[in-house]
Formats: sequence, structure tokens, C-alpha cells
Amino acid sequence: MLQRPRRNRKSEAIRNMIAETQLHKNDLIYPLFVVDGKNFKSPIESMPNCFRWSLDLLLHELDECCNLGLQHFVLFPAVDDHLKDKIASYSYKEDNFYLKAIRSIKERFPTITIMSDVAMDPYSSDGHDGFVEDGQILNDKTLPILAKMATAQAQAGIDIIGPSDMMDGRIRKIREELDQGGYQNTSIMSYTAKYASSFYGPFRDALDSAPKAGDKKTYQMDPRNKREALIEAELDELEGADFLMVKPALSYLDVIQTLSENSNLPVSAYNVSGEYAMVHAAAEKGWLDYENTYIEILTSIKRAGANMILSYFAKDFVKR
Ligand code: PBG
Repeated sequence: MLQRPRRNRKSEAIRNMIAETQLHKNDLIYPLFVVDGKNFKSPIESMPNCFRWSLDLLLHELDECCNLGLQHFVLFPAVDDHLKDKIASYSYKEDNFYLKAIRSIKERFPTITIMSDVAMDPYSSDGHDGFVEDGQILNDKTLPILAKMATAQAQAGIDIIGPSDMMDGRIRKIREELDQGGYQNTSIMSYTAKYASSFYGPFRDALDSAPKAGDKKTYQMDPRNKREALIEAELDELEGADFLMVKPALSYLDVIQTLSENSNLPVSAYNVSGEYAMVHAAAEKGWLDYENTYIEILTSIKRAGANMILSYFAKDFVKR
């Protein structure tokens, strides 16, 4: 035999030398949940080791994460029910605890990246990402609300706006309003191909943000489709997105690959709550090895073409 592929696998050192994919802490964006209040840290049952933090404790947590070498974070608000309404008005209220948290974090950690979430669901009494009327999610009535939310976040100092709502035309609307407000340097990472997925279950528990009626299938993408992701990508590029995202990640590696091959923008992938929960559940039962499994998952997402990965595993990865 002239060719023996096993020669290139004969030692750990050689395997490391020829490895095509290197996972690095710079690639990782760590999601964190923030709540109003003080000295508060509440566990999320379906997401072991993830918590809803009040700002004071969140600052400590960020300190720890930064010392471990993480530098990118995405922040989600868990909003009290009594603050929710049909138009998500709390999302752009001056004294909103989420906006205050963004301000304090940027003051305390000026060099890290903080990304936001733009969608109505955490603030909406309907639990939908858009404005609901007669059971319909109205696209064009949602756009100004999203733009207002994004502008409020930009004003608070967010580095990257993360529209996760899947309304048509929202990237353009947000970009225009940001520019008009003087926030030309605020970036947009569009949730470009966000699928109507069952893998968001634990996240909706964490924020108590599940739809009160119906599902999200009229705006989030159909898991059966891949070519449609190219339409979304083209629109996001034309409308001014700085980054594209595929979400979830693990069941959509082919979509990550397709977008990364067809766009010159950086492509990220969201390794979502359900993907995190299932590894934990199996590891708890002793059916999977926790560390090896999640590293294999993150590696596969990077190998598929993601430049960066939003993942609840990020902290464990840098802690090893
Ligand atoms: C809200 C939003 C969701 C996630 C991120 N932003 C939930 C949804 O669309 O229902 C899910 C993230 C995860 O599951 O980890 N628009």
C-alpha cells in the first residue's frame, strides 16, 4: 500500500498538526440572561449551569468569564409579566433594566463585545416576535417597533444588534434608523436563517417567552428548506447586515456550509438551548461523555463553515 491514511493519525502530535479545524475561544459568543433586581441568581432547570442574573451578579460573572478569556457575549432579558404588552413598549423604555445593564456592562468592560436580541417576544403579552392582530403576525406594523428597540439598544452602547425576529425588511429598517440616529458604527448580526425549531424549548422556559397562541411558522423558516436560506442571505446583505447567522446549528450544518460558501460576510451559528440541554441530559444519565461530546459538536459547527458560534458551552470550553 502506497497510501496509508492511518500514518497521519499515529500520534496526538501529528493529529494536532494536520487538524483542519481549530476551535478558538475568540470564536465563541456566550449567551447570558439578565433580570431586574439585586443579588439574584436563579437557575434554569432545563439548562444546567445557566442562570438568570441580576445586574450586580452578572457583572461578577462577566468578570469571571473575561478572566477565562471569553470576550464576546449576547445578552437576553427575562422580563416580568406585568411589563409585557401588545406593542413591547417596555423594550424601549428609558428605565428598562436591560438597557441599564448594557450601559453598566459597557462602562465596566469597555473592550468586550456585547450583542443584543431584537425581537418582541420577551416583552410581548402575545409571546410572539412580531405584532399580533386577529391571530396574525403583522410584518410591517412590527418593523417600527423593532427599529425603536434597536435604536434604544444602540443608545445604551450595544456593539452588535441581533435581530432574531425574522420579519421581512427588518434589517433595512433597523439600519436606516440606526444611521439616522447617528449610530453608523453599531453593527447588525442578522438571524438570517432562523428555523421554526423545537430546539428553542429550554430558552423559552428561561425567558417565559413561549407564544400564547399558535406557533412561529409564518415567520421562522421551514426546516425542510435550504435554498430559501439563500434568499434570506441575499436580502440581509443588500439591507446592510454585517454578519449572517444560522440557527439552530447542529441540525443545520448544511445550511451553515451553504451560506458560508455563498456569502463573503462572516457567518455565525447559534448552538441553541435544546442542543445544550440534550447533551447535559444524556451526560447526566451517563450515556454520553459531556466534554468530548460538546467539543465534537462545536468543532462540527466550525468545520461546516461558521466563523463564530453562539453557545452555552462557551464557558465550559474555556474552563477546561
Ligand atoms: C427570540 C429568540 C429565541 C432564541 C433566541 N432569540 C427563541 C424563539 O425564537 O422562540 C432561542 C435561543 C435558544 O434556544 O438558545 N426571538
